[in-house]
Amino acid sequence: MMKSANAEHEKKIAAIQSVSLVKNGMVVGLGSGSTAVHMIRKLGEEVGKGLSIKGVPSSEKTAQLAKDLGIALISLEKAGKLDINIDGADEFDPQFRLIKGGGGALLWEKILAHNAKLNVIIADSGKKVNALGKFKLPLETIPLATPTIRAQLIEMGLKPVIRKRDGKTFRTDENNCILDVDIFGVKDIDRLNRTLIEMPGVVETGLFLKTTDLIIMGQGDETLFLRNDREREPSSK
Ligand code: A5P
Repeated sequence: MMKSANAEHEKKIAAIQSVSLVKNGMVVGLGSGSTAVHMIRKLGEEVGKGLSIKGVPSSEKTAQLAKDLGIALISLEKAGKLDINIDGADEFDPQFRLIKGGGGALLWEKILAHNAKLNVIIADSGKKVNALGKFKLPLETIPLATPTIRAQLIEMGLKPVIRKRDGKTFRTDENNCILDVDIFGVKDIDRLNRTLIEMPGVVETGLFLKTTDLIIMGQGDETLFLRNDREREPSSK
């Protein structure tokens, strides 16, 4: 109980800090999930005070929230490139690699991340891990191929579980399925990611391996800025 109250506080302070990076005239990628909600609310407040920005949403849910708060939206197609993209994560490791997709929005989220000049992750301290994989890795799969992909993943020992919501198969904003897989203990994450993405019918994985520039992490009452100084490779996953 206490832990989740702290986590919520840490999410909020990280989210609020991230909004200070948003300047007038920017095109801003709007992430999804509970941490991103804090950020979007704060952004809405700033827009109410005169900040002029355009948001590109990473999910239908985020789009609706932004609209409700009076944040102007623009499509990625029209925007071309985002000045900044701010999103949450389910886990991050010391190499700034992420697992995302707990909320099922990984596909649009990854597209935004790959089209942003600056990627900022906002997180509570519970998201920091030494090795990715305590959180199950979401894979977005097209419905037709999901059963056969599942069978292959079982053979690979990845213990896939088809995500359900309210007793029904969960569907993403692109009407795809999610398979949550167990990658705990996998040493070569890059290789696993390549293997998964090459399976026909896997649309995207929740591994965000090379996009993160900055992580703003709430820890107690503090916010820590963790900068990734490595060179970015914009076209790789
Ligand atoms: C949404 O699909 C996810 O990628 C979220 O960014 C991630 O699940 C983090 O969510 P919370 O901010 O709710 O922890």
